[in-house]
Amino acid sequence: MAKCVLAFSGGLDTLVAIAWLKERRNFDVVALAVNLGQGEDLEELGEIALRAGAISARVEDLRDIFFKDYVANALRALAHYEQNYLLASALSRPLIARELVRVAQEEGATHVAHGCSGKGNDQIRFEAGIAALAPNLKIIAPLREWEYKNREERIKYAQSKRLAMPKPKSGGIRCGYDLNLWGQSIECGALDDAGIAPPEESYTMSVSPLKAPNEPAEVELEFQEGLPITLNGTKMNSADLIEQLNSLAGAHGIGRADIIEDRLIGFKSREIYESPAATTLYAAKRGLEQMVLSRESLQVRDGLAVAYGRCVYNGQWYSELRESLDSFFLRLNQAVSGKVKLRLYKGQATVVSRTSDCSLYQTGTSAYRDQLDSEAAEGFIRIWSMPLAAEAKRKGKK
Ligand code: ARG
Repeated sequence: MAKCVLAFSGGLDTLVAIAWLKERRNFDVVALAVNLGQGEDLEELGEIALRAGAISARVEDLRDIFFKDYVANALRALAHYEQNYLLASALSRPLIARELVRVAQEEGATHVAHGCSGKGNDQIRFEAGIAALAPNLKIIAPLREWEYKNREERIKYAQSKRLAMPKPKSGGIRCGYDLNLWGQSIECGALDDAGIAPPEESYTMSVSPLKAPNEPAEVELEFQEGLPITLNGTKMNSADLIEQLNSLAGAHGIGRADIIEDRLIGFKSREIYESPAATTLYAAKRGLEQMVLSRESLQVRDGLAVAYGRCVYNGQWYSELRESLDSFFLRLNQAVSGKVKLRLYKGQATVVSRTSDCSLYQTGTSAYRDQLDSEAAEGFIRIWSMPLAAEAKRKGKK
């Protein structure tokens, strides 16, 4: 029998997909479950997959790789999509695609499968990633093919096959949650109506800013070449640092976003995000960059942060464009080292101080400024004003 490697999340859809691929499509199914910091019991996921009929289950802890090869690049770039989405879901799909390909090659599988629906961006990210890495692998998207029209029909099928029903996922309400160490995406269900505020139970990584402590907390982050290396003075592995920062900042209501987003596929959707650590790291890094990067570098980097975000969002991770942008940001971040203190208070992470050996801001210059040669200043202003004078003259002629 042909083999198919399925990206298995442990949710209802990929559980049903195991049975469906086996029964309707005659595959030997290898289930692949990856830990990207979603804080679930992954060993248990493996057992659930085997009980559902997978011939084997692989469970992999990819938190460090996720940070090092994906999240770190986005952080160097301060990449974002439409300002407030820091790309947690979008960054994870190319890594899962890479793992699907690797496992398929190891297992001699001809097919890979994923549990994305036919409306979202994730299907595009998976399939574009696989097309770039292993164009000959065939891809199956059961949710785009199978006959079950809704959740109820899938539950019925799962019950008829006596599949262990998955425990409700991390989320607090009935809707789509996608969680990893970089943040959580929450969509559909009660949130589809953009005229209604998200119920408080939608959020699971952060407290409401309204209910956050009245006492602010201070955190100190040290960056080396654009990446965090210590939290409050303690050197830490990056995935651990982010997990700790998620709880510190989440406790102060930081990192919530509620946006109307433009999907790649062309329509708008209402999306809720939580990214306490990512939001805090962006604020800190931006504060440090103001001190260590030139005005021109800052201006160019802002435009390229948008380009980077669009590239990630649109599933073009394995592209020359993304690689080229990485080269730019790797070089630019060589000077982004130093310490930043932030105040976490009722939904805001505010920079309160920064120090850096790479600083372009020198307090000593105030003395220098006093002595700034007044002739040089006059000369600079005269030349700077020349284009304006030329325009004024032309206006006068008209
Ligand atoms: N709209 C976001 C994106 O396209 C979030 C996707 C969340 N994925 C999910 N399977 N719930 O990146």
